[in-house]
Amino acid sequence: MLQRLDKVISSQGLESRSNAQRSIRAGRIAVDGAVCRDPAAKVDPDFQQIMVDGHPLRYQRFAYIMMNKPPGVLCVSQDPKARTVVDLLPDSLRRKGLFPAGRLDKDTVGLVILTDDGDFAHRMLSPRKEIVKCYHAVLDGPILPEHIERFQEGTSLEDGTRCLPATLQVLEEGPCPLAEVRIREGKYHQIKRMFGSVGRKVLWLKRISIGGLLLDGNLEEGGSRELTEIEKASIFS
Ligand code: URA
Repeated sequence: MLQRLDKVISSQGLESRSNAQRSIRAGRIAVDGAVCRDPAAKVDPDFQQIMVDGHPLRYQRFAYIMMNKPPGVLCVSQDPKARTVVDLLPDSLRRKGLFPAGRLDKDTVGLVILTDDGDFAHRMLSPRKEIVKCYHAVLDGPILPEHIERFQEGTSLEDGTRCLPATLQVLEEGPCPLAEVRIREGKYHQIKRMFGSVGRKVLWLKRISIGGLLLDGNLEEGGSRELTEIEKASIFS
């Protein structure tokens, strides 16, 4: 798709359109081997080679990023007071318009997807898709067979909201057991409220997977990286 050169340059990072225009006028940008000083020049970034200061611009229409969210960070794009998942991105991954596709609570950790592709986020979050999300939770008391049954049948939350059937599995027994829960919807505070409805409090919560996409075990808390095409598709598999 043909687009203005200044728009293409500024869309790939946090550089403003006016800075991109300055760079172009200063002769720092080459298109298919020739310096282009016209910010309004029409280019097709999918097919033409654009160089910035001699380095190829790796054009991506949209960004898809996996983050291992740490605790204490808000899952929103911006907040006047608190740190957000977008604030944690390294400069190499930051660009305008990124937002978290789906929310985790401030104290919840684990897999978050950030993107600037609204259609993709919409598909990912659509209740009709019933994409399975897997969480690990530490609880304040033992998990009993009747809790597993209640989750299987679909719990009723305290306000009467019915949840779809979910799977609950004990990973580590003990006074504060570790459990794995798989849900295929995303209601507000859903995991905490589901455990609340069977008399258990969630002490720690981590999202492990979304669809077929697993949190990369090599990402430290707060770390992020781009998704591969295969990983992107695996969300819907
Ligand atoms: N369920 C919760 O209760 N909290 C989260 O952050 C995610 C799912």
